[in-house]
Order: sequence, then C-alpha cells, then structure tokens
Amino acid sequence: MSAKIISGTEIAKQIREEIKAEVVELKEKHNLTPGLVTILVGENPASVSYVTAKQKTSHELGFYSIQDNQPADIQEGDLLKLIDKYNNDPQIHGILIQLPLPKHINETKVLYAISPDKDVDGFHPVSVGKMVIGEKCFLPCTPAGIVEMIVRAGIPTKGAETVIVGRSNIVGKPIANLMLQKRPGGDSTVTICHTATKDMAFHTKRADILVVAAGRPKVITADMVKDGVAVIDVGVNRIGQTPEGKAILCGDVDFDAIKEKASFITPVPGGVGPMTITMLMKNTLLAVKMSANLE
Ligand code: GUN
Repeated sequence: MSAKIISGTEIAKQIREEIKAEVVELKEKHNLTPGLVTILVGENPASVSYVTAKQKTSHELGFYSIQDNQPADIQEGDLLKLIDKYNNDPQIHGILIQLPLPKHINETKVLYAISPDKDVDGFHPVSVGKMVIGEKCFLPCTPAGIVEMIVRAGIPTKGAETVIVGRSNIVGKPIANLMLQKRPGGDSTVTICHTATKDMAFHTKRADILVVAAGRPKVITADMVKDGVAVIDVGVNRIGQTPEGKAILCGDVDFDAIKEKASFITPVPGGVGPMTITMLMKNTLLAVKMSANLE
C-alpha cells in the first residue's frame, strides 16, 4: 500500500478562500475588518519565520494586521502593559504572542494577561476549559488544524484507536481532547504516549490514527506502525541548511518508509504547518464576529 499524502497546503488554501469571502462580506455588510497583532519577543529564527508567515497570510486575507517586535530583554511588566494596550484596542480582535518567550519572562502570566475574548491562540485557561467541556471557543490552532485535515481528508474517527505521541499543552493534550469529543473528527478512543511511556511501539502499533508531536526527528519508524494507519506528523525539525541558508526540515516520523504502510500521511513541510496558520485566521475571524455579536 502507498499512502494518500494529505496536502495541508491544498486544504489550507480552500479554507483561506472561505475566510477571504467572509472578510469581504463582513466589510460590506458590517464595516468590520478582522484585526490581528502578532507579538514577537527577541529574534529566535524559527519564531521569526512563523510570525512572518502569520503576517503574510493575514494581509493576504484582507485583515488589519500589526507585527509588534520587542527586544529579548523586555521586562515582564512592560510586556504585560503592551498586552493591556491591545486588550483595549477596538481595532484589534486577536492577540498572538509567539512562544517560546525568554527565560526571565513568566509565560503563564503573560498568556493569562490576554483577554479571553482576543485569545486567538486558544491558550488562555478560559479557552482551554471551554474546549474540554465542548463549548464554542477559540480552539488551539495546531490541534484544530489537525482535526480539520482529518475531516476533510475523510479519515474515519468514530470508534477509531487514536494514539498521540507527546503531551504538550500546545498539541498533545488539546488534540487528545478534541479527538475525544462526540462530534465529527472526534469520537475516537484516545491514548497519549509521552517520555515516561514504557513501551511506545506497543501503543503506536495499535493505532488507526497516529498523531506525532514528539519534537524529535524520525522517532516513529515503519516497524512501529500497522498497515493502513493514518499518520499526522506535527514535527518540524531543522536538520540542516541549504547552501542558500534555507532550513532543511523533517518531521517526527520516517516519512519515506511509513508512507509504504500507511493509508494516509501528512508531509513535512506542507502538512500540518499551513493548517496551523489558517486556523489562527479562522479564530481571528471568529473573534471579530463575536465582538459584534454576530456569533
Ligand atoms: N510556538 C510554537 N507554536 C506556537 C503556536 O501555535 N502559537 C504561538 N503563539 N507560539 C507558538
């Protein structure tokens, strides 16, 4: 068997067209423009490239969009004041603080300072709590993008054995919650593996759907999966540079070997990555609609 390769780039393109149409309608009917600020502290190269991509997409979709760069040595208090400024800015509906933050800043405190109404990353405890109980809310972008891909690719989830590798707050824990919810793209039996899991392969071999967010290149090899598995690879590992200085990326799974066994697989790059950014745009659209009581 050779897997169907799920193009996140293609699915993201479709969703972006849907968002673009809604943005035009919002402007015409309600004189509203979605506003997004992305805050970058320091110059971590991966963070710079993520934020640049988020800005580029938001401009393409017709959003009002600000990139706010702050020095790596900004004091926590000053960052909190900046967040408060955007919390009170009526033109801004979504606030994104690119993670990770420098060590001297308390990440939790900063994320809690974002108004839950503008929490387009879905990291505020109010958003997390609403997600867990299945209320409408800002879903964290990468997990939401994964569910969207699974649904649009037609991967059956009801009753499926879903195994997740990784327990981060950004991916592992929320994707487990979403895949558990009783709704399309959910309703599966979920197992979460992590660094203390005794026999990883025992679990991964049982998976109908395998979501890997371990943050280590090619940790999942072909002998660890069963025939017909659907694999979602969330890893983005920089394993080198081209002579032109472009990063060479690989995922957390051994793509070339696993694609011969799997039914579906996502590539890196061009898989989950474009979906994450698109979901951020979708959340910002939701935020502006909620601000005008249109949702
Ligand atoms: N760093 C890595 N992934 C993310 C994300 O989804 N949102 C933010 N804000 N920072 C990140």
